[in-house]
Amino acid sequence: MIRYLTAGESHGEALITIVDSFPSGIELNEGDIDTELHRRQGGYGRSRRMKIEKDSAKVLSGTRGGKTTGSPITIIISNKDWKNWKEEEKITAPRPGHADLSGAIKYGEADLRNVSERASARETAARTAVGALAKTLLREFGISVLSHVISIGGVRARAAKVTPEKIIEAQKRALLSCIDPAAEELMIAEIDKAAAKGDSLGGVFEIIVRGVPIGLGSYAHWDRRLDGRLSQAVMSIQAIKGVEIGLGFDAARKVGSKVHDEIFYNKHSFYRKTNNAGGIEGGVTNGEQIIIRAAMKPIPTLQTPLKTVDIITKKTVTATKERADVCAVPAASVVGEAVIAIEIARAMQDKFGGDALGEMKRNYVSYQDYIREL
Ligand SMILES: Cc1cc2nc3c(=O)[nH]c(=O)nc-3n(C[C@H](O)[C@H](O)[C@H](O)COP(=O)(O)O)c2cc1C
Repeated sequence: MIRYLTAGESHGEALITIVDSFPSGIELNEGDIDTELHRRQGGYGRSRRMKIEKDSAKVLSGTRGGKTTGSPITIIISNKDWKNWKEEEKITAPRPGHADLSGAIKYGEADLRNVSERASARETAARTAVGALAKTLLREFGISVLSHVISIGGVRARAAKVTPEKIIEAQKRALLSCIDPAAEELMIAEIDKAAAKGDSLGGVFEIIVRGVPIGLGSYAHWDRRLDGRLSQAVMSIQAIKGVEIGLGFDAARKVGSKVHDEIFYNKHSFYRKTNNAGGIEGGVTNGEQIIIRAAMKPIPTLQTPLKTVDIITKKTVTATKERADVCAVPAASVVGEAVIAIEIARAMQDKFGGDALGEMKRNYVSYQDYIREL
């Protein structure tokens, strides 16, 4: 199954990832990775850095003739801001809400930059690149991963039905990936208001996976439950503080008959008229769309900083003020798509074999035949 590590600091020379066990025979081009990297850099409310960085991926290994070979894939994303980066004086005022204080104590650091450079969500550019590979693999099986922003601060989108067309339309506007244009305007006003006060905002986004076969994941062991694996992947994104699948927390407030999706059968397939389970029952996909929501907290670096304690003098000071996003929920949703695509790709390899695309396809087709013949 795909596994990967990332390396690199926010203002270091580059971000690097090595992706192991990616199947052979998949067409891979750097342009597809760049598309996802650019999406991650967008969204209203981002910092000026997003204009300095125009991320671009270079694939250094694991492909030949434009196709993956099954060997480890190395991807490098250079940091253009690196050239502008001067070694500045030590940073000693930890930001509340960041890894600064705990990280400095844990690693025995007296300069918080040594912590924040790696704790920064710049690392998610590398994860987005791996996600682009996973999406390429999933496309071979008609599986797509989309996301949209549901709320920013106290402003919530109102949309009767979420459709892929509406999501694509919202993404074209390149603002907040919200499918309700009226709410999107209010969200922008909310971000402007927060920015004027030197404050920041979080929000909620939703990820939808379409075209997933029934039977990915397993109920047999805790660490094979797909809901658990997807939640961990999303929760591991910087600033994500809540994850829901299907009805999520709302399910706890309803009676069972209003929650569980009744089962129907027609033309050789089982189906549901509702999808409150969000496509997963017992840790296994049930053939419906997978629906995951994530709550992102407000960005911790504030232009009107909060009180903190200097780690050297122990005096009360204001937290370090750095260039930062006011709101990065649309960017986080792109990262969310990436980490979900990686987990679904792994689950596909687990079920259908993971060495070569041809092998996966043969097994997939035979499994679909088996389901049709049930
Ligand atoms: C796409 C994205 C962009 C972010 N941009 C910033 C930023 O500009 N400034 C900042 O302080 N935090 C930013 N964050 C959040 C921090 O990285 C995060 O809050 C911090 O590392 C502490 O981790 P935790 O919130 O998970 O506890 C961003 C997060 C994401 C996902």
